[in-house]
Amino acid sequence: MTGTPSISEGFLDDKPEAAADAAATEVPQGPIFASDVNHDYKGAPLLAPYGDGGDLEAFFWANHDGDLIHKWHHYFPVYDRYLSRYRGTPVRFLEIGVFRGGSLAMWRDYLGPDATIFGIDIDERCAVFDGDHAQVRLGSQDDPAFLDRVIEEMGGVDVIIDDGSHMSSHIRASLTHLFPKLSDEGTYLIEDTHANYWGYYEGGHNTASSFISDVKDLIDDLHRRYHTAGTRHPGVAPDLYGMHVHDSVVVLEKRTRLEPPRSSMVGIDRFGQFNVETSAEAG
Ligand SMILES: C[S@@+](CC[C@H](N)C(=O)[O-])C[C@H]1O[C@@H](n2cnc3c(N)ncnc32)[C@H](O)[C@@H]1O
Repeated sequence: MTGTPSISEGFLDDKPEAAADAAATEVPQGPIFASDVNHDYKGAPLLAPYGDGGDLEAFFWANHDGDLIHKWHHYFPVYDRYLSRYRGTPVRFLEIGVFRGGSLAMWRDYLGPDATIFGIDIDERCAVFDGDHAQVRLGSQDDPAFLDRVIEEMGGVDVIIDDGSHMSSHIRASLTHLFPKLSDEGTYLIEDTHANYWGYYEGGHNTASSFISDVKDLIDDLHRRYHTAGTRHPGVAPDLYGMHVHDSVVVLEKRTRLEPPRSSMVGIDRFGQFNVETSAEAG
């Protein structure tokens, strides 16, 4: 192919409105899709691997005969950074967005045989993947009753990856409903958040409807004890331990029973200003 590689080519082929929206906001020399370079996606690695993506990236590039997976290369090291601690454990893992089934095989290979892996999708064709490497359930990520049934069947959930519709309202609905159900020290990862800069996905730059605005709000919520503006996401904020924002991937870490923050001074102040007697010393 010729010309400047486009973010919308291939990725949004089935969504012409979104493709036009993305094209209008693209900057030159944006991300390059493998399909822009060589349309034979079953061939040998088409672009240099992003690097340090570990076993996930290795699985991806070797997946010539497996079910199709679609991943941005730079996600692999991010996944590995937050999810490696679950490998070889009985982690309960939910992926929103099954697509062509290949990512569930990838997660099974990565997490191991003891993991409980479920995938959900609204595309009824995805039922064909049920039982291969994971359980697949059909329903929408913004349907709380459906999500409840899935989580109950899983026996709880430790990790959630939202790779579903990428619609801001859907991401918000899933997060609001599922974050409280995530186990203590669980991980909630939302990917393809670049889509939330595009109108088709209810997004835009500095647009209130965009999920990216929720991410910014959550920074304020994380610091809710230090301002009086209130908490915008009460379902998430109380147990939000930390938030990591990468290019197109947002990771939320949960810790329940977070104590109110305190600070102490320990040691001798050589300048003499803070050398107060402790109650133990006084006693
Ligand atoms: C980006 S693809 C998933 C890619 C897959 N995880 C992978 O890594 O290869 C998005 C999927 O989300 C599904 N989807 C769209 N809207 C949804 C919704 N409301 N609830 C659940 N899944 C949805 C689509 O049918 C599609 O299969």
